[in-house]
Amino acid sequence: MTQFCIAPSILSADFARLGEEVRNVVAAGADWIHFDVMDNHYVPNLTIGPMVCEAIRPHVDVPIDVHLMVRPVDRIVPDFAKAGANLITFHPEASEHVDRTLGLIRDNGCKAGLVFNPGTPLHYLDHVMDRLDMVLIMSVNPGFGGQSFIPEALNKLRAVRARIDAYTAGTGREIRLEIDGGVKVENIAEIAAAGADTFVAGSAIFGKPDYKAVIDQMRAQLASVA
Ligand code: DX5
Ligand code: ZN
Repeated sequence: MTQFCIAPSILSADFARLGEEVRNVVAAGADWIHFDVMDNHYVPNLTIGPMVCEAIRPHVDVPIDVHLMVRPVDRIVPDFAKAGANLITFHPEASEHVDRTLGLIRDNGCKAGLVFNPGTPLHYLDHVMDRLDMVLIMSVNPGFGGQSFIPEALNKLRAVRARIDAYTAGTGREIRLEIDGGVKVENIAEIAAAGADTFVAGSAIFGKPDYKAVIDQMRAQLASVA
C-alpha cells in the first residue's frame, strides 16, 4: 500500500510565529514541512533562507523538504544541509550541471530531487534516475501560494509514475513523487490516483483555522485511493 505523505508549505504560515506554526502543523498530523525558497530572480518573489531553516529545525523532528526556486543553485546547497534540511529539490533549468547538483545534495547528506514547472519537459529525467530520491511536479507556476491547480499536471504525474515504477521495479529503491500547487481536500484523491504519493499544501492548510481537520480530511480522501 502506498505510504502517502502530507507536506504543508510554510509559505502560507504566519511568518511572525513560524516556530509555533510548524509545531502546530506537525501536531495536527503533518508528515514533512515543505520549505519554499524564492530568490526574486528565478521566481518573482523573495522568501526565506538557511537561517530560517536553522531556526525552525529544533521545533520539529519531521523531515524538512527544501524546495529551491533559486538560480544559481549549488552555492546555497551546503548551507541548507547544515541548517537541517533532509530533502533538497531544485529546478533543473536553474542549474548549469544537473548531475553535479544532485551529487552535491547527496554528498551533503540530503535526499535529492528535481522539480518540473508546468512547462518544463520531462527529458531532464533522462540519465539521472539513479541520482534521484524524489520528483516534484509543479501544478502551478512557482512563486506564490494560493493559485489554482493546473489540470495538465495530472497527465505529467501519470507519465512520471510510469517512469518511476519501471525504473524502481524489483530494485527496492524508492523515488517519491510529489505534487505542489493548488492541492486541496477536494482534489487530493484525483491527484493521488494519477500517481502522486507526497502532497504539498500551503493555503489549503495554513489558510484554515483548524489544521488537523484539514489534514484528517485529506487522509480520509487518500484512504479511498490506497
Ligand atoms: C509555489 C510553492 C508552493 C506553494 C503552494 O511556488 O512552491 O509550495 O506554497 O501553495 P498552495 O498550496 O497554496 O498552492
Ligand atoms: Zn514548493
